[in-house]
Amino acid sequence: MTVELTTRLVSADPAGIAAAVQCLARGGLVAFPTETVYGLGADATDGAAVARLYAAKGRPRFNPLIAHVPDLAAARRLGVLGPQAERLAHAFWPGPLTLVVPRQPDCPVSDLATAGLDTVALRVPDHPVARRLLRDVGRPVVAPSANRSGHVSPTEAAHVMADLRGRIDLIVDGGPTKVGVESTIVACIGEARLLRPGGLPRAAIEEALGRPLARTADPAANAGEMSDEAPLAPGMLASHYAPRAHLRLRATDAAPGEAVLAFGPHVPPQMQRAKALLNLSPAGDLVEAAANLFSHLRALDREGVTAIAVMAVPHEGLGEAINDRLQRAAAPR
Ligand code: TXA
Ligand code: MG
Repeated sequence: MTVELTTRLVSADPAGIAAAVQCLARGGLVAFPTETVYGLGADATDGAAVARLYAAKGRPRFNPLIAHVPDLAAARRLGVLGPQAERLAHAFWPGPLTLVVPRQPDCPVSDLATAGLDTVALRVPDHPVARRLLRDVGRPVVAPSANRSGHVSPTEAAHVMADLRGRIDLIVDGGPTKVGVESTIVACIGEARLLRPGGLPRAAIEEALGRPLARTADPAANAGEMSDEAPLAPGMLASHYAPRAHLRLRATDAAPGEAVLAFGPHVPPQMQRAKALLNLSPAGDLVEAAANLFSHLRALDREGVTAIAVMAVPHEGLGEAINDRLQRAAAPR
């Protein structure tokens, strides 16, 4: 299913960065250095590019991704920074700190990149190559660590090449990264909360805030507390986007009043007469289906139906991650 790409390695000079910018603008996948680890970048506003990014990493799940921007002004266009977020941004950006904040109503980051959540993770990396790249692209760039799913994060271009050769378009070689571990993630929705320890120590954050950080969200301990607020948890926790409507999976028909989430060219005629129907990919393309997944679910949910009949999606390539999300969305709550 995955096409073998020619992976170009360029140096982090003006020509190399220009090639990377052009590649990203065309929907390509570009690995680049940040001060923490190498990131695998894609245009955050291009759902199909983001879907290809998940496929290249071989992630069996759609974890939400971090949107990288060149400065605070660009971050404010994507997310709503409250007083605590502003304080942390002023103290530590650029630097190894990611802030999870509510999305702006007109935030252009694709639903797939935020895994359908109403929040967005923002980061301004402290690396001259990353910043030049982000400034020149002029759009937010999502970038998980540039490794295959389950492998360790790369701190050198050679690590990226070894892991992702043939699966991505370009690697910008900016030498070894300084910090070597991922950014610290703090959610600033309500009280600031540490979601992932990382390159910026907790103590520095607490000093800037003038108070201790709330404990890391623990899915078991906080089950009740978390249930009626925006899901804050990193992808490895149980919280996730859930539509209001009930999902009925592997459907081959539609009950009266049900909406239909279709897949592929062969939609049964009975389903075609549903009150509302959206097709994840009429051509049966799993990359296109992934790019449409969360936005289609949201759109059908807005129809006010009580249930959505979802056609079967093949369990191969990105289908595994699509089915994972559909199953979570269908789970009783
Ligand atoms: O240092 C870093 O942060 C690196 C470099 C490349 O910038 N990037 C990185 O990305 O570590 P990734 O995808 O490996 O980790 C992103 C983490 C995941 O645990 C994800 O669940 C969490 O951020 N995350 C992203 N958006 C979120 C959101 N809206 N709510 C909660 N967690 C979120
Ligand atoms: Mg990672």
